[in-house]
Amino acid sequence: MKLREKISLEEVCGQTFKIRVVEASEYGKAAFTHYLHNNQNDAAQFYRKEAIQHVKRALEYKYPNDDISSIEAEEALHYMLFDFKKDVPFPEPAKPKFEFIDLFAGIGGFRIAMQSLGGKCVFTSEWDEQAKKTYEANFGEVPFGDITKEETKKFIPDGFDVLCAGFPCQAFSIAGKRGGFEDTRGTLFFDVADIIKRKQPKAIFLENVKGLRNHDRGKTLETILNVLRNDLGYFVPEPQIINAKDFGVPQNRERIFIVGFHEGTNVSEFEYPKPLDKKVKFEDIKEKKVPPTKFFLSTQYLQTLHNHKARHESKGNGFGFEIIPDTGIANAVVCGGMGRERNLVIDKRIKDFTPTTHIKGEVNREGIRKMTPREWARLQGFPDSFLIPVADASAYKQFGNSVAVPAIQATAAKILETIL
Ligand SMILES: C[S@@+](CC[C@H](N)C(=O)[O-])C[C@H]1O[C@@H](n2cnc3c(N)ncnc32)[C@H](O)[C@@H]1O
Repeated sequence: MKLREKISLEEVCGQTFKIRVVEASEYGKAAFTHYLHNNQNDAAQFYRKEAIQHVKRALEYKYPNDDISSIEAEEALHYMLFDFKKDVPFPEPAKPKFEFIDLFAGIGGFRIAMQSLGGKCVFTSEWDEQAKKTYEANFGEVPFGDITKEETKKFIPDGFDVLCAGFPCQAFSIAGKRGGFEDTRGTLFFDVADIIKRKQPKAIFLENVKGLRNHDRGKTLETILNVLRNDLGYFVPEPQIINAKDFGVPQNRERIFIVGFHEGTNVSEFEYPKPLDKKVKFEDIKEKKVPPTKFFLSTQYLQTLHNHKARHESKGNGFGFEIIPDTGIANAVVCGGMGRERNLVIDKRIKDFTPTTHIKGEVNREGIRKMTPREWARLQGFPDSFLIPVADASAYKQFGNSVAVPAIQATAAKILETIL
């Protein structure tokens, strides 16, 4: 049997060589999965070299006494293309209409929206290991890591149509002047702008917290717009605050959307999507069966939350939690610490449950519980086929950080109308 037939895709892709191979290169698995997904298009050339090296390292690990050449590794890689099946919950469209890249990808909220519109993702980056796990389970591709590194940026292919990025908001240290491209150096926006400058995509779609509008007394947004419009020459209409609840999810979540068009597209006007006439209530997304021992709060813990809230309110602080009635909509999700309990749900079915020793103290009789990870997924508009392979604590954080998919999709549809 030839060497190439003696190593399987599962061995290279899965856990078998995890410690040795992953430690050897932080780009190996990302390049390998990106190569498999892009072997039919021009982007493959950007991943080929590192993908071969990844297979070579796996072969060397499996056959320590053999002298493995790059040619043999490449043969093995190509052999794997026969076995490669895109049987993941969210495969790329069979006949893509456009290409996009997914920066600060999180768990792929942008990707679901863009794929649903016929997009093919040709590059993705996210550095959080738990988020990568969720991303890989759903799309079969491992994101590249730190996007500020040149080694990461060099993998980004040329010629894609849309750049998507929900980048974290950071102030620029610009004293008294309207900042330009160089003044944003050292921030994540600089890296986004740098990629736009190098790759010149037809359109850009940036998402951020609503607070970006007034961040640093409006200077942060002003600098971003100045760089995009004046330094990079994009047509950027006035950014828009979009509320997720207007697009079919029961969540009051406002985010700022910034879109832009390359001057070569000749786009000079753009209309953001209008709110849909579709109101969804929490009861529409409520899980039918919820394990009582896992999500319902004990009387004792509920009291702790009440006390915590009262203490903070008496000091004028904002801590609070909201109990969402069935007919209501949740307020934007806040992650971390006690904030995780921000959205509690009344679920009267608790009356049918007998409290067990799993819950410290007795289950509260009001039927108040946390939302389940699946309910969080639905709150953000993720389809139920979306896999949640991580522990609940990570899932809460990931959905909280993510985008409301339907709001992204409605806006992306408008972008595509203008450039395709
Ligand atoms: C606001 S979240 C975006 C979530 C994403 N839009 C989604 O749908 O899940 C920002 C993400 O950027 C990631 N991130 C922050 N700095 C990064 C960096 N330097 N390189 C790669 N990812 C980074 C964070 O781990 C986080 O998941």
